[in-house]
Parts: sequence; C-alpha cells; structure tokens
Amino acid sequence: MKWRAHVFALATAVSYLGFGAAVPEQSLREAARSSGLLIGTAVRPAPLSEAAYASTLAREFNLLEPEDALKWEGVHPEPQSFDFSQADRVVDFATRHDMKIRGHTLVWHRQNPKWLTEGKYASGELAQILEQHIRAVVGHYRGKIFAWDVVNEAFDELHPGELRSTIWRDQPGIGLAENGNSYIERCFRWAHEADPQALLFYNEAEAEVLNPKSDAIYAMVGDFRQRGVPIDGVGFQMHIADLHADVASISANISRFTALGVQVHITEMDVALPVDPNGSPRPEDLQKQADIYRQIATACLSHPGCTAIQTWGFTDKYSWIGSHSKQRQGAALLFDRDYRAKPAYAALRTALESGRR
Ligand code: XIL
Repeated sequence: MKWRAHVFALATAVSYLGFGAAVPEQSLREAARSSGLLIGTAVRPAPLSEAAYASTLAREFNLLEPEDALKWEGVHPEPQSFDFSQADRVVDFATRHDMKIRGHTLVWHRQNPKWLTEGKYASGELAQILEQHIRAVVGHYRGKIFAWDVVNEAFDELHPGELRSTIWRDQPGIGLAENGNSYIERCFRWAHEADPQALLFYNEAEAEVLNPKSDAIYAMVGDFRQRGVPIDGVGFQMHIADLHADVASISANISRFTALGVQVHITEMDVALPVDPNGSPRPEDLQKQADIYRQIATACLSHPGCTAIQTWGFTDKYSWIGSHSKQRQGAALLFDRDYRAKPAYAALRTALESGRR
C-alpha cells in the first residue's frame, strides 16, 4: 500500500494554517536559519501560562523581548527597590527555548514611576539615579540579555532633528554637560561597563526612512563611533499605521547606518489595519499587510548588517494597537486572535526562506 505511505508523509509534512492554505511545515525560526537573521517578538509574562501562546512562541521565534516588564515603572517601582520577577519569567522562557533576549529599555520618557518623574530631583541626583538604574538592571541580566535598547525615542518629531524635552535631557543633560546628547553618551558608557559583552542599541520611532529624525540619529551615531562611544546598533521600531511603507527609503536608511559599522535591528514591527467594531479587518487589507511584512523582511535581508526582525507581539489577541488607536485599528500581527497564521505569516516566512547571506 505504497500510496498510503505517501499520503501519510504528505499529511505530516503539510499543515493547514488558517485561511485554508496548505503550507509546508517550517516555522519562522527554521526559515530564518539559512540567513542567520534573528526573528523575534515582544512578549508579555502573563500569557506565558497559556498553552497556545507559549507553544507558538517557542515554535516560531529565536529572539524575545519583554514588551513592558523592563521599563522603569515595572522594574524600579520604588527608589530603593527593583522588581525583576516579571522580566525574569520572559528571560527564563527564552533560555529554556534557546532564544536570544533583547532588553527594552533603560532610558525613555514614558512608563516611568511617579517617584521619579515627580521627585523634583536636582540634576546631579537624577544623573546618579539614572546611573544606578542602568548598572543594576544591566548587571542583573549580564550574560543573559545579548542586546539592550539603551535609549529609546530621544529625538523629537515636532522639532525635527532636535532632542525631545524629557526629565533626562532637561536634567542630566544639563547637569552632566551643556551640550545636547551628552546624556545619551553617558548612558551608553554606563551600560557598557555593566556588561561589556552586551550589544548596545539606540532605538527610535518614525526614523525608518530618510528624514530629519533619522538624519539627526545618523549624525549622533557617526559621532559616537568616531569617538569610541560604545554603540553597536540602531533599532528601527517599524510601527506601520497607514498600510504604506516607503521600502526604497527604508533600504537606503538601513544602508547608510550599517555603513557606519553598526547593526540594524527592526525592533517593533506591526502593520495596523482598520477594523470593524468586532475587531475584524477587511480581507484585502490582510493581503496588503502581507506584502508589507514581506517587503520589509526582504529589505532587511538585503543588508548583511540588518541582523534581526522583531514584531511587537505575535497574536492579535495581545497587541498594543487596539488601545493605542482607541480600537479603530488592530489585526496588526502575524497570527489572529485564535493563533491562526495570517497571510502576513506566510509572506514573512517566504521572504525568510529565500534569504541567503
Ligand atoms: C507599548 C506597549 O506595547 C504597551 O503595552 C504599553 O502600554 C505602552 O508601550 N514604542 C516603544 C514601546 O518603544 O515600548 C511601546 O510599547 C510602543 C511604542
């Protein structure tokens, strides 16, 4: 009964992933093996106890990043105490499943605890608090977190090319030195001392394309590299909210940054779709979304220095887009709310499979 064996082999080699399409059984992390690209996602600790969440995560990705658990309000809730319990759950999961871990983020103007933002600290005190925070958090994960977003979103979209006004820029920036981004430089040096092996990234929103913001970051990174400030990479978030990606400009931007000798990671990709009151997108938008995932992956793969693609969550069940858009948008990720692969999943995997380095 040879045909039976064939049918059986075919059935095991093929799985039916959503939308009725038969696809070969290869996960994203397997598909990424030929190129060596890291394929990652942001992770929340609570749903790790949900079987479908944990098994999809373990099967598909080789890189994880706690979505919120390492931000100040979670990890440093009181001036004198740190709480690593939530981030540790993500780190333990990643370690058990042979995944790399990105850390996000040491310096940001959002999700900071009130004791910090309302503490009315003098410049010198705030600089000291920042230094201690960076040394404690990076030190706790020394040898475990392979790459850190040291500073997140320091440049301002309203004043192109200028640093955003934050407690950090306004206080330690002035307190430590008079000129602009010296506080960013200090943060990279502290992080490097706390874990000399960790790769240190500057992470930013809306700087994926050639624009005044990415120009300013490019100038800063070029200066840091020239003066030996320990920066290893730049993260481009890649939150796409209008079903449009200027891939030529993104590719040119990746090209100029990697030419500075730093790596590029795509750190927070999602492609938000308009959704009806039930949270359902239009079928034609799912195809457009798939094209964008494929094009971005292909652009990254065409530059040897673009070494990771990470999505901001992986199931539409857990995504920041709903609340961020007042429920007008959603369905931004690779799997639907029932963990069925969407067209974007297949498109991304096809791009990963054809990537050679
Ligand atoms: C978002 C998280 O996804 C949400 O859970 C949280 O409520 C707000 O922050 N840019 C970043 C991320 O660098 O840290 C943000 O994450 C999304 C925008």
